[in-house]
Amino acid sequence: MALALMKHRPVTGNEAPLLAVDFSHEMLLRGAEKFAPHNIVAIEADALHLPIADGSLDLVTSAFGFRNLANYEEGFAELFRVLRPGGQIGILDCNQPGGLTGAMYNLYFKKVLPKAGGLISGDADAYRYLPASVERFPRPPRLLEMIRAAGFKDASWTGYTFGTAGLYRATKP
Ligand SMILES: C[S@@+](CC[C@H](N)C(=O)[O-])C[C@H]1O[C@@H](n2cnc3c(N)ncnc32)[C@H](O)[C@@H]1O
Repeated sequence: MALALMKHRPVTGNEAPLLAVDFSHEMLLRGAEKFAPHNIVAIEADALHLPIADGSLDLVTSAFGFRNLANYEEGFAELFRVLRPGGQIGILDCNQPGGLTGAMYNLYFKKVLPKAGGLISGDADAYRYLPASVERFPRPPRLLEMIRAAGFKDASWTGYTFGTAGLYRATKP
């Protein structure tokens, strides 16, 4: 995500660094190899307690990370805190679709994926965590309510791939 964002960032010559946050040391070590040639600073921190000043960021994004937070209301409050007025969030994450798509998705996600993923990787638990975490993640109407309750405006969700993933966007007034 950090590298993709760098590509789209307007070049002015005196840009502040892009901050890449994760609380997994191993994940940041892997990222550091890719970040080295770029103006990216890796920060080892919990997204619920960011070591970042109030009102200091233009944009906060997360790709398949936000769903893992221990408390979503606190997560949105923390993102609101660090954004400047007019700053935006872009949160891409999994979603549990409804109807027939949801039934087929559940079959694949809960029965097929843990077995196939476990056989190939040797870590079936990781592939049981994935569907469990998606099930626990609130659906778009509820998450949009939380985003608005945190103080954001223009909250929206755009679904992708039959609603199995989607992007939440909102702006700090
Ligand atoms: C599926 S990975 C996605 C990583 C990243 N978007 C990327 O493209 O490399 C989810 C990441 O979220 C991190 N994570 C989960 N909860 C977190 C939290 N409370 N604070 C910081 N990072 C967290 C995990 O350590 C993991 O590296």
